[in-house]
Amino acid sequence: MTELHATSSLSWLETLPPVGVELVAMPVAAAPAVTLFPEELELVGDAVAKRRHEFATGRECARRALARFGLPPAPLLRTAGGGVQWPAGYTGSVTHSDAVAAAAVGAVAGVPGLGLDVEELGRLRDALLKRILTPAELTVLQAVPEADRQLLATRAFCAKEALFKCLQPLLNHWFGFQEAEVLLGVGVPERTEADGDQLAIRLGPGLTDLMPAGWRLAARCASGDGLVAAIVWVETVS
Ligand SMILES: CC(C)(COP(=O)(O)OP(=O)(O)OC[C@H]1O[C@@H](n2cnc3c(N)ncnc32)[C@H](O)[C@@H]1OP(=O)(O)O)[C@@H](O)C(=O)NCCC(=O)NCCS
Repeated sequence: MTELHATSSLSWLETLPPVGVELVAMPVAAAPAVTLFPEELELVGDAVAKRRHEFATGRECARRALARFGLPPAPLLRTAGGGVQWPAGYTGSVTHSDAVAAAAVGAVAGVPGLGLDVEELGRLRDALLKRILTPAELTVLQAVPEADRQLLATRAFCAKEALFKCLQPLLNHWFGFQEAEVLLGVGVPERTEADGDQLAIRLGPGLTDLMPAGWRLAARCASGDGLVAAIVWVETVS
């Protein structure tokens, strides 16, 4: 498990979002005691303490991100799909690992949808890779030096989770890991490379057909503190 020091700056993560998106992250070890609204408490009433803590920390990050747009604290309930019910005119995404919690928020007028994910490095075993990665992604992975494989695979996994969080609520469509491809050959990272890489994602036909005209997908990835983060968002093009 990646343990983050309470004073870890997470600056590599905060540089991830595009213009118009606010991201707030905090090491779980440094999370303040968060008071949830009664309606939110009901959502995690039966959950174990660890889940209640990550839920509360994610909500705290989300409220801080919304505050940067001038929004006052308010309950953030859950959609039928499991995501956050954002205030009218705003969208966002929440993620938490054992080490860090984060939320990204943007105004729908500029960013119709976004997804954020953080994953710990070194967690992906071979059996899981075959489920998560497409044959083409696996081929690229085999061609890179072994020392780089976990980073590359985690980037792809993280990007796909972020993609799901971005598109599932927008398209009201549940989809699997084989329905999108991260173009791993593009921008293969140096092991020491830290921040802000553009990622290219190719959607399968099932998803492409559902994407409204004028929507374009963009994605970025960064790593630090033994973690990988990805953000995927929709841009409107005229
Ligand atoms: C839903 C899922 C993406 C969550 O990711 P995770 O790495 O397990 O967990 P994270 O901590 O990063 O994210 C959890 C947050 O995701 C959000 N979330 C859950 N379901 C969501 C959905 N359908 N849409 C958007 N956000 C969602 C929630 O805000 C949740 O936090 P909260 O319950 O405290 O509010 C993941 O569990 C999952 O089901 N993945 C399979 C689907 C998939 O990724 N397919 C690949 C497509 S290429």
